[in-house]
Amino acid sequence: MSFDLNSLLRTYVVGLQPYTSARDEFDTQTESYVYLDANENPYPNGVNRYPDPQQKELKKILAQKLEVGADQLLLGNGSDEVLDLVFRAFCEPNQDEILIMPPTYGMYKVLAEINQITLNKVPLDIDFQIDMKSLFKAINPKTKAIFLCSPNNPSGNSFQPNDIEDLLKAFNGIVVIDEAYIDFSEQNSWATRLDDFPNLIVSRTLSKAYGMAGLRLGICIASREIISALNKIKPPYNINTLTQERALEELAQSDNYMKQVDILLEERSILSKKLQSIGFVEYVYPSDANFLLVRVDNADVRYSQLIQAGVVVRNRSKEYGCVNCLRFTVGTPEENKKLIQSLSNIDL
Ligand SMILES: Cc1ncc(COP(=O)(O)O)c(C=O)c1O
Repeated sequence: MSFDLNSLLRTYVVGLQPYTSARDEFDTQTESYVYLDANENPYPNGVNRYPDPQQKELKKILAQKLEVGADQLLLGNGSDEVLDLVFRAFCEPNQDEILIMPPTYGMYKVLAEINQITLNKVPLDIDFQIDMKSLFKAINPKTKAIFLCSPNNPSGNSFQPNDIEDLLKAFNGIVVIDEAYIDFSEQNSWATRLDDFPNLIVSRTLSKAYGMAGLRLGICIASREIISALNKIKPPYNINTLTQERALEELAQSDNYMKQVDILLEERSILSKKLQSIGFVEYVYPSDANFLLVRVDNADVRYSQLIQAGVVVRNRSKEYGCVNCLRFTVGTPEENKKLIQSLSNIDL
């Protein structure tokens, strides 16, 4: 398959001269210089200087962890910003179209609406796998990008790798694989296949397994060419100083997070079994993520009863294929006990 990135990018991005900040023009930061180039307040308080627009230190550490080049990474204010940048780089408003596969993460639809991009849907099959036949049928000359989420939110399962590979090979547009929950699964990240697929963009986040949802740090992994195009349109200082510093601190102790992931996986399996013994639970879907999708007899009623018991879960009943489904995030062992106790105390 021949691949021409410039023919996929919006014309304005190809020709765009990005804003160059003071720190882009002179990126050495040492005490031997006096910095009078960025109109900052010169009196130090830890945040008086603009942050590194390219987050070099952070990318160095992330590149090692993710086993890709630092120049294959772009960081966003959460992966929601990464996804928005993909829209803004590739999808021409009122002209291009994207494809998603419901039930899936709600932001793809919202971002399509914000960016005025027609959204086409190819529902997942009964096992929440990609309906490949319908997907290929739905692709048309205007389809610029296909968004898939694996492991998928809210279903929790990963898609068949063969299906994803077939799609990457056959589709000439951009394939975005949202791997927000990959650290809870045994699947290989598609980031390991970037050399095989120049049309691939992988989105990761520090919000889930790495416990930094409050910092807002999303990671886009793609070819150097795609990253350099996205860099042209990102806001110059999109990752603030405190986020960069704190993320570096937390990543230095990422062993702790991996231990927490082990506990959460153990808890996921305990929770799944216990949920199956609750009278009004009809089905617990298998999960590769840090949550369980659970079909109950009446989701609205059970949701309110849980709130009364002090447990807040997500009612996903209105999502395609999720009638009467609640989504339970796996909590600490104590929190999960409280969930099971509360469910057990609810009358049938
Ligand atoms: C599939 C998926 N992608 C992305 C996100 C957003 O991640 P972030 O916190 O990095 O914006 C979420 C959050 O729930 C998600 O479920």
